[in-house]
Amino acid sequence: MCGIVGYIGKKNSLPILIKGLKRLEYRGYDSAGVAYIKDKNIKIVKTVGKINNLDKLLNYNDESFIGIGHTRWATHGSVDTTNSHPHQAGSITIVHNGILENYQELKKILTNKGYTFKSDTDTEVLCAYIDYEYTKTKNILDALNNCMKVFEGSYATAIMVKDIPNKLFVMKKDSPLVIGIGEQENYIASDISAYADETSAYIILEDMEIGQIEKDNISIYKNKKEIKYNIEQVEQDAFDSDKNNYEHYMLKEISEQENLMDKLNNIYLKNLDKIMDISKYNKIHIIGCGTAYHAGMIGKYLIENYSDFEVNTYIASEYRYQKIFADDKTLVIAASQSGETADTLACIKKVKKYGCKTLGIVNVKNSSIARAVDEVIYTEAGQEVAVASTKAYSSQVYIFSLLALKLGITKGLINKNEINKEYEKLPSYISKLTNYDYEDIISKIWQAKDVFYLGRGIDYISMLEGSLKLKEISYVHSEAYQAGELKHGTISLIEKDTPIIALISDETIALKTISNIKEVKARGAYVVLLIKEDLNINIDKECYDKIIEINATDNLLQPILNVIPLQLIAYNIAKKRGCDIDKPRNLAKSVTVE
Ligand code: G6P
Repeated sequence: MCGIVGYIGKKNSLPILIKGLKRLEYRGYDSAGVAYIKDKNIKIVKTVGKINNLDKLLNYNDESFIGIGHTRWATHGSVDTTNSHPHQAGSITIVHNGILENYQELKKILTNKGYTFKSDTDTEVLCAYIDYEYTKTKNILDALNNCMKVFEGSYATAIMVKDIPNKLFVMKKDSPLVIGIGEQENYIASDISAYADETSAYIILEDMEIGQIEKDNISIYKNKKEIKYNIEQVEQDAFDSDKNNYEHYMLKEISEQENLMDKLNNIYLKNLDKIMDISKYNKIHIIGCGTAYHAGMIGKYLIENYSDFEVNTYIASEYRYQKIFADDKTLVIAASQSGETADTLACIKKVKKYGCKTLGIVNVKNSSIARAVDEVIYTEAGQEVAVASTKAYSSQVYIFSLLALKLGITKGLINKNEINKEYEKLPSYISKLTNYDYEDIISKIWQAKDVFYLGRGIDYISMLEGSLKLKEISYVHSEAYQAGELKHGTISLIEKDTPIIALISDETIALKTISNIKEVKARGAYVVLLIKEDLNINIDKECYDKIIEINATDNLLQPILNVIPLQLIAYNIAKKRGCDIDKPRNLAKSVTVE
């Protein structure tokens, strides 16, 4: 969601800006633009659509050694060139990620002072307000400092000032921004993946800090005082954005789950003592958004069922505003792939005021959530480029299984030796599912208008994730239902050949789900049954059209396997429908606004 880049140095800035923007494409965007200084003039080029559209408009002969760039994910105003960034007012040109909440109020003040606005964006107001303060103070650092006292909301902003052509400025609150450090050159980015090839050292700008960036110097200020900063190192191999001959990143990332399980076994299973002991808390709250929320729901189920401890799960965008019952004996677990999701981050800040202990299950190292929590367990999935999360989800579920395992062992409820063997078999089971030929199923259902997913208990949660994957990347309407609930309304939508994907992996309620499948089959549905092998039940061949058997593992790990066919069904339907699988419309991977 909105990517920011910037460059100052000895090279032509345009190719560097475009390269950085391309690296941030994964965040999701609908328009893109750059601003650069050429012969003392600030030039702005921006357009809607993909970065390639912008690329075609650029004149690379325009040598410029300073510039900023942006990918916009529309929040205020439609997707059009005027609303896209950079924005300019007076001497100031900016790109912005975040939402300026009091922009209407500030717009009135500025309009009364003679400012006019071309776009519908909050960003143009933010830009004009900086110009207003700069005109008053004649000192950009003072101006930015004054602005921070007035701006409400979130902003990561890169700023160029017309009469200061040898410096870039940044300021930040609640949206991410980093400064990459080079030799006689420096970079700005929403995250360091944009310039991890160019530099291995970077500074993470913290809230309410202002940065002044020259090609050979960086100064950080807070409350008008220059402050010391830490230099972080980019981890080697942290950003593997090579597609390795796969047609899509999503397929590559689904396939990587096999080796990932091995990696996680080596890092965590063999060092279970390093996994947080959650037994000392009275309450556990799990929060997350989208796929991470689904992983949290699986986590609740695993901890409750295998270690006998009640857990509550919450959608972060709700939790941050709802009444919560939490204190210093409450553990709040935040699951997040990006580590930047604004709502999840806000929840962490909220529960700290209640004295809660916080644990992050996060993929991106050094991300905002990873830094905000008391303890972090990294999911070690490597960079996930496709917007639809796959390997990050299964690694989150894996970590939740370990939390349940550790608690279960502490309580004497789980036998560690037996379960260890099952963890070790995960890669080979996943390999079987990724090599399965889904074509038969896909050819029957890829043109469907609606697809319904059915399951009970923990299987229902996997189906929520399967249904979300399908919606995200294929734009097919789908819903997941608790199998017993369908007949209380939604069964009216089932007609001849409506696809139903059903999952049965919990033996204790398998027969109940089978009855529900028969109800939809009787109404003409086309049923794809995903079933754990070796279930001790009789399944009538007439109650499904296609069946996929999933290896049986311990129930603690079964959800990691169950999701693989669901990911691949969604992927293959989207592929057949010709969708932009890795960058689905309207979606952002890093959701840095609420
Ligand atoms: C967006 C992404 C989803 C992701 C969700 C939460 O909606 O498109 O794939 O599950 O954000 O993101 P997080 O980074 O916190 O896991």
